Amino acid sequence: MKYVLSCTLVFALVACDSKSDKPNVELIQNMMESPAIKAQDYDPSKKDYQAMRMPPEGTVAQGKAPYMYKAQPEKAGKELVNPFSGNEQVLEKGKLLYDTYCMVCHGPKGLGNGTVADKMLVKPPVMNSEKVVSWSDGRIYHVITDGQGLMGSYASQISKEDRWKIVNYVRQLQKETKQ
Ligand code: HEC
Repeated sequence: MKYVLSCTLVFALVACDSKSDKPNVELIQNMMESPAIKAQDYDPSKKDYQAMRMPPEGTVAQGKAPYMYKAQPEKAGKELVNPFSGNEQVLEKGKLLYDTYCMVCHGPKGLGNGTVADKMLVKPPVMNSEKVVSWSDGRIYHVITDGQGLMGSYASQISKEDRWKIVNYVRQLQKETKQ
């Protein structure tokens, strides 16, 4: 009897004090101490023992839509449309990006004479060749996005918008260095 009474008293004290600003005492702790598994931990309940799960097939990270023209330069050249006109702001940003990412190989004016060009077996092509001048904006964008031969893709370093700004600046360089 004594036991029942004291139990009742304990419950009354811990469970019903709505005025207290302290958290209640939790008598059954299962919910407080859930067996959460940390990322990269070992999880014996999974078939592959990995705590981290693979995203479902076909999942795309936000802002990372796949490039639809992989290894399809001609199609990219026909279908991709430059969203920018080469206004001053776009060209200014385009120059900054070109000088950061492209100049080291293609040279400050796109003449293929960047600082590392000397040491390269395949020389970086010029931007003012008949070939590149005749290309559409989308075709140049494709090289930056998908790479070409020895030149790697810059898709992971440069956002889509910024790639188009570079294309605008390449157009500007072509005008400046017209043959
Ligand atoms: C590490 C040196 C290097 C960097 C950096 C580089 N490129 Fe290239 N680029 C090359 C080489 C080499 C080629 C020729 C590849 C091939 O066709 O095998 C090339 C090819 C190109 C072509 C095709 C030209 C043609 O005549 O076929 C374009 C356009 C181009 N690059 C633009 C750019 C732009 C824009 C950037 C900056 C985002 C850039 N490249 C960064 C080395 C580089």
